[in-house]
Amino acid sequence: MSATEAEVIRWGAEGARVVPWRGDRTIAYLTPLIGARPTSSAFATRCVEQLAGQGFGKVVTSALGPLEQTGFLAAGFQVEEDLQVLCHQLGDLPRRSPSFGDGRRCLRRARANDHPAVLAVDNCAFSPFWHLDRTTLSEVLEATPRSRFCVVVDKAANGVLGYAITGRTRDRGFLQRLAVDPSCSRQGIGRALVIDGLCWLRRWRVERAMVNTQLGNDAALGLYESLGFRRQPLRLAVLSTGLSR
Ligand SMILES: CC(C)(COP(=O)(O)OP(=O)(O)OC[C@H]1O[C@@H](n2cnc3c(N)ncnc32)[C@H](O)[C@@H]1OP(=O)(O)O)[C@@H](O)C(=O)NCCC(=O)NCCS
Repeated sequence: MSATEAEVIRWGAEGARVVPWRGDRTIAYLTPLIGARPTSSAFATRCVEQLAGQGFGKVVTSALGPLEQTGFLAAGFQVEEDLQVLCHQLGDLPRRSPSFGDGRRCLRRARANDHPAVLAVDNCAFSPFWHLDRTTLSEVLEATPRSRFCVVVDKAANGVLGYAITGRTRDRGFLQRLAVDPSCSRQGIGRALVIDGLCWLRRWRVERAMVNTQLGNDAALGLYESLGFRRQPLRLAVLSTGLSR
């Protein structure tokens, strides 16, 4: 299987899509098919056996709601990461922070030749497990029918300092990815990128914007709540299990 080629494991009415996790051929990334019934422990066990037979050493799931987690947990999966879901109603939107518009920096749409610098920022900002590469960056951009991909650049050095990808379906928006170079943190860059994405969603009459982030990510939670996102009771989790060959 190549990094982009998906395999679908089916069993009765259940199904899951599998790709290597971020191009790492030792880790399988498993996403239950939309519309299928919540994964049973029997199907989760079957996936584990099949993927172990294909040489994978670990399986990681997509972010799952509580009901979807049950079968995986019964099959021996554990919580890799707890995620907090937040929602913004896109009513009053905050203004861009005054410190941002000092002329040295600008926020603009990303261009194809920004991608290497975007990935460099991403790799500095996130822990290795969550790093994007060229393939997974494309997958994020294609995850929704429409997306807005913006960068903040230092005009003199033409260097990317931060980026955000916001996606939308007909009535719902998603803050898909956000990262700021750690050497420029707390300078209003994340704030400007999120506000830009929210304004774009409102221009397209989207009714609400969703985001999720790790439960302990105080910087992201602080940023989102300062901009009017509210924590939702629903918690998601990414689950994983090691595979013995
Ligand atoms: C989260 C992140 C994007 C914030 O970017 P940033 O440019 O540093 O944020 P800003 O300067 O715009 O901060 C705006 C507000 O967010 C909150 N905030 C930002 N960093 C914070 C921190 N470390 N702790 C608590 N609150 C924080 C504050 O309310 C801040 O306002 P203030 O500085 O006036 O107090 C950045 O830390 C990052 O890239 N983190 C790693 C990647 C990540 O977690 N992305 C989001 C995953 S969904």
